[in-house]
Amino acid sequence: MTKTWWKEAVVYQIYPRSFMDSNGDGVGDLAGIASKADYLAELGVTAVWLSPVYASPNADNGYDISDYRAIMSDFGTMADWEDLLAALHGRGIRLVMDLVVNHTSDEHAWFIESRKSKDGPYADYYIWRNGRGGTCEEAPPNDWGSWFSGSAWKYESGRDQWYLHLFAEKQPDLNWENPKVRGEVYDMMRFWLDKGVDGFRMDVINMISKDPALTVYMNGPRIHDFLQEMNREALAGRDLLTVGETPGVDPALASLYVGEDRRELGMVFQFEHMGVDEGKGGKWDVVPWKLTRLKEILGKWQRELDGRGWNSLYLNNHDQPRMVSRFGNDSPQWRVKSAKMLATMLHTMQGTPYIYQGEELGMTNVRFPKLSDYEDIEIRNWSREQLALGRSEAELLKAVHYRGRDNARTPMHWNAGPNAGFTAGKPWLGMNPNYPEINAERAMADPDSVFHYYKRLIALRKEYPILAYGGRFREWMAESEAVYAYGREFEGSRLLTLLNFSDRDQSLGEMASTLAKRGRLLIGNYADGEGTDPESLRPYEARVYLA
Ligand code: GLC
Repeated sequence: MTKTWWKEAVVYQIYPRSFMDSNGDGVGDLAGIASKADYLAELGVTAVWLSPVYASPNADNGYDISDYRAIMSDFGTMADWEDLLAALHGRGIRLVMDLVVNHTSDEHAWFIESRKSKDGPYADYYIWRNGRGGTCEEAPPNDWGSWFSGSAWKYESGRDQWYLHLFAEKQPDLNWENPKVRGEVYDMMRFWLDKGVDGFRMDVINMISKDPALTVYMNGPRIHDFLQEMNREALAGRDLLTVGETPGVDPALASLYVGEDRRELGMVFQFEHMGVDEGKGGKWDVVPWKLTRLKEILGKWQRELDGRGWNSLYLNNHDQPRMVSRFGNDSPQWRVKSAKMLATMLHTMQGTPYIYQGEELGMTNVRFPKLSDYEDIEIRNWSREQLALGRSEAELLKAVHYRGRDNARTPMHWNAGPNAGFTAGKPWLGMNPNYPEINAERAMADPDSVFHYYKRLIALRKEYPILAYGGRFREWMAESEAVYAYGREFEGSRLLTLLNFSDRDQSLGEMASTLAKRGRLLIGNYADGEGTDPESLRPYEARVYLA
């Protein structure tokens, strides 16, 4: 496996709306992010992934782009963006931009033209079809549902046709079959690359190829052609981080996207482990998750991509609930320990770890009392639909509290002052009320905080290449519902990670404890003086040994 900067990187994801507001309008902005560049440098991350900052009417908080070459006015100006790039580069931090090219906003100039008639120059920029009924308007072209509830089609009287929107109505899907569309996208990518960006995170990139009969939209027939063409046209000859967001991908498919010789993507964000608590009814059908299932999935990805392609490592982002609430224990007693334990897992597997803003503080899910307190379009559409079906607000809130995207989008906690120091105005989304306890200022002053533990993990990654590159993933105690014990090897050394996912002491299997005795403790989330026992793990304990 070749060595590259992006395999060794630790990426920090910023959701700009919620990171830091510099002008008191309640919305985070680019100048706010730049003002925290020292914070990022202190943490030690080596790259930032910026969720979309392009012009947008914000139907989906920037994932609906109306101008790919302009900055959203809420966030500032192009000059602010250039200042941010300089602030990051000046500290040795690279900048990865979000690339949202499965769809645009319906307010994009292309769509404004496209919706007017069937034969203008932009007529084929989007996916238009006739309806199925007696009149075109009667029934949509097929029964695809939108990821944000309801049909994936909207009737447009201007053309007497329907357009496809896999996401919100205001997010029409681009027609990648049209070479002009592809050319525009590559051109836009070169625009940002020439400005100095270091890579792209590609939004739902495995949905860009739909077969002409519209039977599939994930991993469609021309997806690999398109990505290879994108490489030739926009990415080749530059040393970039590329990560594709790819729901519905298993390791076999992933190796086509990230295979070292394929010239497609550097890594993908897979979703299998995000489904461990999902019942048959999908995302909102929450069921208890089992550690054995999580281990099965993560282990499979570790083994099957080893030597073939590169993994990304994440447990949360702007679309997922907070990891300590979902996979750890966010009670006051165990929040810090379990957040560190989960971090240990992410940073000791093969792949590039992604930290979502606030994760390094152990930020938790939020429980707003009313559905109307939520801003996310996915939550709003879904709850409107479900209320109409007769479900109660209390029942829906239960699912939203557990799984809703706004859990991750409440503003970042900087200090214990008003609105956690995020804004001098009224925050665009409610704050998590626990900010007096959980905030950056406090965490930085406390050597035992989650923040300092992340710093140590990141520093270790820079010191020991085995953390990034170690392979030959092996597991012990695979049947345990509490202990996760695994090892990796690299150039004659071995790394052993022992994790306790429960709030009780757990004795280790013979093999794991024997190996632990042979190694040197690299990092752990209990202080040495607390009586480390090679034979067992304390609640939410994490230990990493190097031999
Ligand atoms: C991706 C983004 C998500 C967005 C969706 C549509 O899943 O991460 O935030 O809503 O695509 O762009």
